Amino acid sequence: MTKRIALVTGGTGGLGSAICRQLAADGFTVVANYISQEEVRAQAWLVAERAAGLDVHIAMADVSNFESCTAMIAKIKSELGAISVVVNNAGITKDGMFRKMPLENWMDVLNINLNSVFNVSRPVIEDMLAAGWGRIINMSSVNGQKGQFGQTNYSAAKAGMHGFTKALAQETAAKGVTVNTISPGYVGTEMVMAIKQEVRDSIIATIPVGRLGKPEEIAKLVSYLASDDAAFITGANIAINGGLHMC
Ligand code: CAA
Repeated sequence: MTKRIALVTGGTGGLGSAICRQLAADGFTVVANYISQEEVRAQAWLVAERAAGLDVHIAMADVSNFESCTAMIAKIKSELGAISVVVNNAGITKDGMFRKMPLENWMDVLNINLNSVFNVSRPVIEDMLAAGWGRIINMSSVNGQKGQFGQTNYSAAKAGMHGFTKALAQETAAKGVTVNTISPGYVGTEMVMAIKQEVRDSIIATIPVGRLGKPEEIAKLVSYLASDDAAFITGANIAINGGLHMC
């Protein structure tokens, strides 16, 4: 069988890298998306991952821009083939209390974390439906499920991702395309390490498992949802948070 192609947005970051490595180990040809400001880092990432023997590629696009995503996906299709798996992983935080939040911090987080899901999924959905097989995996957050002090923008965007999941899953289920959400808790990535130490320590103290998650633990769940074995899971929101929030 020809190798399936997986696109991971924000694929060269902390969580994204672990997801790319896992999907490559699973036998996918993996394309890691990155933003132009990360060009140097992305090129170094590509060299390192290929040296480790992985079948990976990189593709530049601003996920908050529809035309940029459309152009990236057309290029991937012409150079490698149609995309079978999309992991909508790119995301940012611009934390702050709502009463102090500038409009820009709201718009940036909504555009990069939520509008990106349209921008990336819309150009690939026809090919997935035509192939009769596809996986869209939306990386949300425990804070989309429970809300978080200082994250009105991020919690709104992450909750929105799961609304999208549930609606699109109904439209595509009969054609072999599953759409799911993963809601990780606090994972030891740059994003979480950027929280002030005393705030971070107080959050870790509330995690029943007693530690941050590991990117590889999240990547294993992505791997399962991307597999043929997960064909009966669609429209789900799977929590992976060390017990921080149970629903
Ligand atoms: N609940 C209730 N009150 C809280 C609170 C909470 N969780 N956290 C802080 N407060 C209170 C403080 O006690 C303080 O009260 P006083 O004014 O009475 O002293 C007040 O709110 C202001 O708190 P800060 O001093 O922390 O305010 P700040 O402006 O310096 O910082 C903040 C605000 C940036 C939001 C900071 O609290 C923060 O970083 N919080 C963590 C946000 C967070 O969890 N981000 C997750 C990032 S990682 C991620 O998002 C990945 C993922 O998916 C999980």
